[in-house]
Amino acid sequence: MPLHRSTTRPASKPSAQTPAASLASPPEFLLTEELPRDHFPVSGGQPHAIHQAIAEELLLDGNSKQNLATFCQTWEAPEVHQLMDLAIDKNLIDKDEYPQTAEIESRCVRMLADLWHAPGEAMGCSTVGSSEAAMLGGMAAKWRWREKQKAAGKPTDRPNMVCGAVQICWHKFARYWDIELREVGMRAGRLCLDPADVLERVDENTIFVVPTMGVTYHGLYEDVAGIAAALDEHHAKTGVDIPIHVDAASGGFLAPFTAPDAAAWDFRLPRVKSINASGHKFGLAPLGVGWVMWREPTDLPDDLVFHVSYLGGDMPTFQINFSRPAGQVIAQYYDFVRLGREGYAAIHGQAHAVARVCAEELAGYDCFRILHDGAAEKGIPAVVWTLADGAAPGFTLYDLADRLRMRGWQVPAYPFTGELADQAFQRILVRRDFNREMADLLLRDIRTAVDHLKAHPPASDASPRRSYSHT
Ligand SMILES: Cc1ncc(COP(=O)(O)O)c(C=O)c1O
Repeated sequence: MPLHRSTTRPASKPSAQTPAASLASPPEFLLTEELPRDHFPVSGGQPHAIHQAIAEELLLDGNSKQNLATFCQTWEAPEVHQLMDLAIDKNLIDKDEYPQTAEIESRCVRMLADLWHAPGEAMGCSTVGSSEAAMLGGMAAKWRWREKQKAAGKPTDRPNMVCGAVQICWHKFARYWDIELREVGMRAGRLCLDPADVLERVDENTIFVVPTMGVTYHGLYEDVAGIAAALDEHHAKTGVDIPIHVDAASGGFLAPFTAPDAAAWDFRLPRVKSINASGHKFGLAPLGVGWVMWREPTDLPDDLVFHVSYLGGDMPTFQINFSRPAGQVIAQYYDFVRLGREGYAAIHGQAHAVARVCAEELAGYDCFRILHDGAAEKGIPAVVWTLADGAAPGFTLYDLADRLRMRGWQVPAYPFTGELADQAFQRILVRRDFNREMADLLLRDIRTAVDHLKAHPPASDASPRRSYSHT
């Protein structure tokens, strides 16, 4: 969320009347003055007129269906809209007043424990998204590590974590909780966190290693099983036992359905102590829900948990917000029950198939090199490419992104990390509402844009470098 700075632009004098009241008898649907912007209005206006004005202003936000940058859902079933409406007054924290909503959240947690192969009783909760879930998973790891160090009479002042090119939520976690972030930058041919890189960086102050199932930059799954095996060996050799938290923001709701036979990445690996995922990404729920799960209740230190007793029993809670909307959790439960494993596999299977179509087409361009072709066993349904080695098409991927914007498409161009921080990459994220028809339209627009840019190469200093930020 960007911070907004209040400006003191001299505004039209705040009106003491409704916007339309300056007319002798104002028709209800007329808005004759601009909407208040800088001053809190003295009085209100006509609901229809105000609603229409705001709704029309929002049209300038662009069309979310053409936003191929976002991982978050941009389509929801009518039934989800109805459930969200039903839940508009429900506060998720108020387990006393809304015990059935609390029960529904609990059912979701049990279903996720099943989906991610928890060996016995697991522990988990909903969050606002993966960022909050990462924060909670990270805090639990820091607390566990600190207890272990204290018990061994060792210092607790220099915790670190090891990861690949992570999403910004982990930079936040590290900064807010005073953790040294040992982030392995990308290298050509090594886009994912490698077990050897991990072993070079861990020590007894490592609170955890965080591989990502669906790296934000390129969508590929990191080798959780390989990293776990390397840490098992390290444990056997040194006695230092380092847990794994899997950031499965996207993959947590993809791999179980579309790559069920791929190598284990979840609680099947004993070293995986916690997992986060975004319900509002491939969990298919509306914006505002994520999940964090711990392998066993003891993996979540009790002194992080606040016990609420107003249900008569004991309701443990662990979250950053207090009040939170309940609709997203209820909608998530609807999705789980409505779709089941087969439904998720069908919907995400289609997204992978559409991604493959796009990848095949883009691979046909001499000037592009595909890094991820959307294959389900390799990563999320996305296509990621860069300019082919030695290609000099006369334009950059930033130019292409700008050109596609003219047709309403958001196909972001941005740099990677580490040694690839100077190179541009481009990504299409395929969600359930980006169907084959839409893909064909986009591919046609890419062809037109490339032809135009080749025929009219932009002057290099005139090309804006509007790099996409994954925040
Ligand atoms: C790998 C990864 N982790 C965490 C996040 C943050 O997730 P959220 O937007 O649900 O907070 C993202 C968002 O794109 C992500 O890709």
